Amino acid sequence: MLYNDSYHNNFKNMHRQNKASNFISKKEFKEIINFSKNKKTPFLLINLNQIEKEYDSLRENLPYAKIYYAVKANPHNDVVNLLHKKGSNFDIATVYELNQLLDFNVSPEKISYGNTIKKEADIDYAFKKGVKLFATDSESDLKKIARKAPGSKVFFRLLCDGSGADWPLSRKFGAHPDTIFNLAILAKKLKLIPYGISFHVGSQQRDIGQWDNAISQCKYLFTSLEEKGISLKMINIGGGLPSNYVNPVKSIDVYAKEITRFLKEDFGENLPEIIVEPGRSIAGNAGTIVSEVIMISQKSSEGQKWVYLDAGKFGGLIETIDESIKYPICTEKNSKKLMEVILAGPTCDSMDILYENYKYCLNKSLKEGDKIYILHTGAYTASYSSICFNGIPPLEVYTKRF
Ligand SMILES: Cc1ncc(COP(=O)(O)O)c(C=O)c1O
Repeated sequence: MLYNDSYHNNFKNMHRQNKASNFISKKEFKEIINFSKNKKTPFLLINLNQIEKEYDSLRENLPYAKIYYAVKANPHNDVVNLLHKKGSNFDIATVYELNQLLDFNVSPEKISYGNTIKKEADIDYAFKKGVKLFATDSESDLKKIARKAPGSKVFFRLLCDGSGADWPLSRKFGAHPDTIFNLAILAKKLKLIPYGISFHVGSQQRDIGQWDNAISQCKYLFTSLEEKGISLKMINIGGGLPSNYVNPVKSIDVYAKEITRFLKEDFGENLPEIIVEPGRSIAGNAGTIVSEVIMISQKSSEGQKWVYLDAGKFGGLIETIDESIKYPICTEKNSKKLMEVILAGPTCDSMDILYENYKYCLNKSLKEGDKIYILHTGAYTASYSSICFNGIPPLEVYTKRF
């Protein structure tokens, strides 16, 4: 029965969530604990070895694809520099990210301006710096590109509904295939190079079949545009590849095998140029937010315990909105004696509750001042952290290899 299955899964995940060994090795956890000694919390610790491992694994599993790391996921200089040294290309959202990359001497040929929402002045700036690959999904943006980045390659972003994703990016980005068809024709008229099609199936996408749907739409556009004399050369399969959070997901090799099968089904053995833009899958598993319990309270004799941490929604854990991303959360000691808790952040904003509906379980012996380890928080945390809400400074970030 469905109800029983989901109950059973929830129960299983509850008991997976608080055991660090379900997510990282004992040695890694020890390193994190030792590093945390005498450090002021909260902070994010990034393991650069893990970033490297995830990058290498993706290269191995999608050997034919060009990797464009989505800088927004974790723009820390050490992360960007490491990936640059490994030969990665980069997907940028803004000229600020562009400047950061240029400071590291990343060649503009390795940069794709992937945001479909751009000021004309920013397109101008990027083009003058040498960027010649732009995403678009509207006539207005396309015309800006034609004016300020003449002769550039453009790729057109398809609308995806984001279903199956824990962090969907639906509606705001992309356009219907018919609109894309017209944009590609217009691009040619505007003397741009209609180069390819992109999509993003939604971040932390659990349903691998979503790539199948999007790739079939690419095939339709490749064929119909060919009939109009436009020969597209590239497919950008976006992000969406997962990190390992509380709800288990298939491993990257399974995603890669399936995506490769979908591509070959539609395009045969001679694939067009394939671009992948991972953010979460590269940075997520590499980070741990170390936090401290500020207060434990109970609001009624029968009620659950509220555990207030010094890290909250405004300190980097914004993806807990609607409890979308469920990070593994554990303490130093494993215990069989657990209590269900409501987890909340430190600020004077009632929205700053991390998890209330989903039942997190922590050690019954948990006390104020204990450290809490929020695992796999390397993506979309530090860069989201507010600069001084309630006077709290942005999340401190350290990097280390272990
Ligand atoms: C254009 C684009 N590419 C790639 C990514 C990275 O996606 P993910 O973190 O799911 O890998 C994003 C995320 O927002 C994006 O907007």
